[in-house]
Amino acid sequence: MAAKRILLIIGGGIAAYKSIELLRLLRKSGHEVRCVLTRAGEQFVTPMTLAALSENKVHTSLFDLKDEVEMGHIQLSREADLVVVAPATADLMAKMAQGLADDLATTLLLATDKPVLAAPAMNVRMWLHPATQRNVATLRGDGVTVMEPDVGEMACGEFGPGRLPEPEAIHDAIVEALRTATPLPLPALAGQPDFAPSRRRPLYGRRILITAGPTHEPIDPVRYIANRSSGKQGFAIAAAAAEAGADVLLIAGPVSLPTPPGVIRVDVESAREMAEEVADGLPVDAAIMVAAVADWRAADTSAQKIKKDGSGKVPPLALTENPDILAGLAEHPKRPALLVGFAAETNDVLDHAKAKRVRKGCDWIVANDVSADPMGGENNRVHIVSHDGVDSWKRLPKEAVARKLMEKIADELDRRIPPETD
Ligand code: C5P
Repeated sequence: MAAKRILLIIGGGIAAYKSIELLRLLRKSGHEVRCVLTRAGEQFVTPMTLAALSENKVHTSLFDLKDEVEMGHIQLSREADLVVVAPATADLMAKMAQGLADDLATTLLLATDKPVLAAPAMNVRMWLHPATQRNVATLRGDGVTVMEPDVGEMACGEFGPGRLPEPEAIHDAIVEALRTATPLPLPALAGQPDFAPSRRRPLYGRRILITAGPTHEPIDPVRYIANRSSGKQGFAIAAAAAEAGADVLLIAGPVSLPTPPGVIRVDVESAREMAEEVADGLPVDAAIMVAAVADWRAADTSAQKIKKDGSGKVPPLALTENPDILAGLAEHPKRPALLVGFAAETNDVLDHAKAKRVRKGCDWIVANDVSADPMGGENNRVHIVSHDGVDSWKRLPKEAVARKLMEKIADELDRRIPPETD
């Protein structure tokens, strides 16, 4: 089986030590594991042990603000292929069944759209209690796979069902769950029986590639050629596409912006790296090339820092042209059904944009006047230049431009590739 990403939530209970063995088995099978430790779980295993074995940061608190910048809890819950709760205590399952979200683990469980597997562990009386049995039934009804606990002697001396299944058995159940994984079913909303929110999102099932930010073209190990692109508009577009339900691949030049929730991001430095990642990302339904790719790079790069020699002579800097990623994509055998370029212009905005659309072979050019809204600002006034003419929008915050553009793209994709109905 190909390596998968597993989010392992470890509840509090004497059986928590077995989750260490489970983690070891999952790593041995080649899976990537991120651990979340509940407060009670921390009483039984340490974050350090889990971090060492998983080779990943261990998450314990919802209020870890640094994480909210680096990786929000929504993203943490969505980027896994499977969420595993082991041990799933009576308390944790009661909260899951009720939809409580008062710590990181329960918040992730409520926010996830991925399959969930729970391996219960608790005292026999607690397991057999009608409240727990009710909760287990509720969870199973909600689509959660709840394993049967093992029968045997408990840490407390009693005998019966309630022991955490052996790590090998949980591992087997995980393999099976990954094989048959389908997202958690979404309930029909009252009065709207056919309404399944994620399926109704306008870009559900669409794969969208976005480039953003500047590129850095090295001259020597310490110097590079760059431009003023902040990446804000491209990142806002990636965020809006993910919100609209698309699978988003964001190929970002060097910027200091957080990854929007639900977006897969690949960082690159130079135009040539960006071109390679774009080609690797195909096929996609739509590509939106927002990056301000450097037109030229240094013809020769020096392996060592170029020194001033005191003579006052300036070193020559010969340039060579970078590949045009957008134009290349337009001619690619896997050309996306909708190809959108951007054009930042300082004069004759529309004329330049119209010519650029034809020259580059893309479907739309989103033109903006960077003399009015300089790169790096918060707002954008754009004109969408297409075969059918020009659609000019008023000046809007970049987030609003992104959402409006995504609505237009969703409509256009529905026209070009009608969505499958189920
Ligand atoms: O030619 P110009 O740089 O103005 O074109 C802008 C559009 O082309 C943007 O969509 C930009 O992302 C894309 N582009 C590219 N590769 C280049 C240059 C520009 O994809 N080398």
